[in-house]
Amino acid sequence: MFISFEGIDKGGKTTQSSLLAQYLKKRGYDVVKTFEPGGTRLGMRIKEILLGPSHAKMSETSELFLYLADRAEHVQKIIKPALEHRKIVISDRFADASIAYQGYGRGLEIDWIEELNRIVTQGILPDITFLLDITPSLATRRGEKKDRMEKEQMSFHQRVHQGYLELAKSHPERIKVVPGEGTPQKVHLTIREALSPYLASRQQNKNHPVKARPKRVSIEGNEDVV
Ligand SMILES: Nc1ncnc2c1ncn2[C@@H]1O[C@H](COP(=O)(O)OP(=O)(O)O)[C@@H](O)[C@H]1O
Ligand SMILES: [Mg+2]
Repeated sequence: MFISFEGIDKGGKTTQSSLLAQYLKKRGYDVVKTFEPGGTRLGMRIKEILLGPSHAKMSETSELFLYLADRAEHVQKIIKPALEHRKIVISDRFADASIAYQGYGRGLEIDWIEELNRIVTQGILPDITFLLDITPSLATRRGEKKDRMEKEQMSFHQRVHQGYLELAKSHPERIKVVPGEGTPQKVHLTIREALSPYLASRQQNKNHPVKARPKRVSIEGNEDVV
């Protein structure tokens, strides 16, 4: 199962992905907690370029492709192998972030970003995405803005915030909007509740596998699997 956390900076993604990972681990699930950008070795280098002070004026398209390169590496090295081993993957940001930030925020063509996302994710989509929703003004009150993206002007953060809400409207079955203003524990409980049917159906699939076991048939004396 693949779970992502999205939303503007300071919405509580890092806090909530940690609380959820702890909770699931305690319940015996095999959890891989990861993040974008920077969840891989190559990604860490890309993150320095993206968020550090050295390239404040990069082009919007360069910014998009750097995030996409980070994601391609993240999917190939971390997410895909973990999902193949039936682990629960929790990612602090994923593909929706490029639509919200580079699409709605920077004004790049959303159709292109969707297409490029399909390429770099190899078609992998989260089963459930928690959009932690706080207003950009609450985000400002939650602490200092440090990196290149966080330092963008208020109007940028407002477009990103609206963009995320549009995305949630277009994908209501996958993206759950979670109000982010309560205490961390209260927000965590809302997330647990929303996740519980997914955990139940995962458990059911485990007990009653949908796919029948491959039949062994003999072909010219050899045992072969078809
Ligand atoms: N529900 C909450 N209420 C108040 N403060 C919070 C809450 N969740 C997180 N914070 C605080 O807000 C800041 C940003 O949280 P964080 O989890 O790092 O957000 P994000 O990863 O979305 O940027 C941190 O200082 C964190 O302790
Ligand atoms: Mg964070």
